[in-house]
Amino acid sequence: MASDKDPVVKPVVKIALVGFGRAGHMHLSSIRSNHRCVLKYVVELAGEREEAARQELVGLNMADSVTVISSDRFDSVVLADPDLNAVMITTPTDQHEVYIAKSISAGKAVFCEKPIAESIDTVRKCYEEAERAKLPLFCAFNRRFDPAFNDLRERVRGGELGKVHCISTTSRDSPLPSMSYLKISNGMYHDCAVHDIDTVCWILGEEPSHVYAQGHAQKKEIVDINDVDTVVIVLTFPSGVLASVNLSRHSSYGYDQRIEVLGDKGMLSIVNPHSLPLVSSTATGINLSPYQYSFPERYEASYRNELHHFIDCIQDPSLEMKVNVNDTVRATRIAQACERSAVSKKAELLET
Ligand SMILES: NC(=O)c1ccc[n+]([C@@H]2O[C@H](COP(=O)([O-])OP(=O)(O)OC[C@H]3O[C@@H](n4cnc5c(N)ncnc54)[C@H](O)[C@@H]3O)[C@@H](O)[C@H]2O)c1
Repeated sequence: MASDKDPVVKPVVKIALVGFGRAGHMHLSSIRSNHRCVLKYVVELAGEREEAARQELVGLNMADSVTVISSDRFDSVVLADPDLNAVMITTPTDQHEVYIAKSISAGKAVFCEKPIAESIDTVRKCYEEAERAKLPLFCAFNRRFDPAFNDLRERVRGGELGKVHCISTTSRDSPLPSMSYLKISNGMYHDCAVHDIDTVCWILGEEPSHVYAQGHAQKKEIVDINDVDTVVIVLTFPSGVLASVNLSRHSSYGYDQRIEVLGDKGMLSIVNPHSLPLVSSTATGINLSPYQYSFPERYEASYRNELHHFIDCIQDPSLEMKVNVNDTVRATRIAQACERSAVSKKAELLET
């Protein structure tokens, strides 16, 4: 029998997942593992993509509970559903703005993959609309929710290293994303560098005064789309901390995501987990299994944790969201300064 002491059971959050590509699949796994939410709709482009999503859900035994809807029926079916609480947007970035605006105006909470939008004005406008409607708009800077990154930040902030001198991050993607994705990815600074930029600023709690960035396309197909696949960025912070970010679109040896923070009293670093904890030691040397293949394995816990945080924010509107408008705008401003620096070949001041 229920008593006053029983914890209040909050209603399950019903979610529509828009875009069923790489990010959509990893969020599907988080939703399935989370008992506080259920997936009600998957929205995809009409035709082949919509049909592929439908077939996949049949294979996953989810066809009875999840309805696949083509994007042209998003307003009339998904947004018109009064039972739906939240929309999770995992389409390419150029589609985020329209889905955010429509979802907020229909009264749905929004979880959106990074970056929220391509321009700062648009990012601000999206948050203003969410603020007016008193609805959560969450930007998925997932590294903040990774247990190792989170622990490292707490320890740096707690003074374990004393004064921080420098931070160095390495992010090398695996596998190379498809050319169709890269063509509309909004470029390497906004698509990849924003994760490292956000991580460094989040750890330090400050933003750089200026940045210097250089990029180069090592692969012919990346030259052809006028983007770069190899980037080095130096960020200079008012406190004197220097940070370097080293990025590659393709690592042949697995997903490579590392960070080092050096301070007066020592160094904290995050290394890559291996795909198996198996080590062979012989007279010829030590042999480890390869690094994990890609982001769904490496950051699985972060994707699950960020979903829990999003649900917390829906269920308790007084809760402070762990990624806010200033964080999101800052990452975009810094990525834009990097783009300017790559062209001018000079350090660029951060515009306010
Ligand atoms: N946080 C992370 O670790 C992470 C990892 C990968 C991608 N992302 C982000 O996720 C977003 C999507 O990237 P991706 O790699 O999954 O791309 P993707 O190309 O693999 O998937 C995008 C999907 O959206 C569908 N789509 C396109 N336009 C649509 C529309 N108008 N309506 C509905 N569906 C539509 C496409 O058919 C495709 O299936 C990007 O913003 C990217 O920055 C984040």
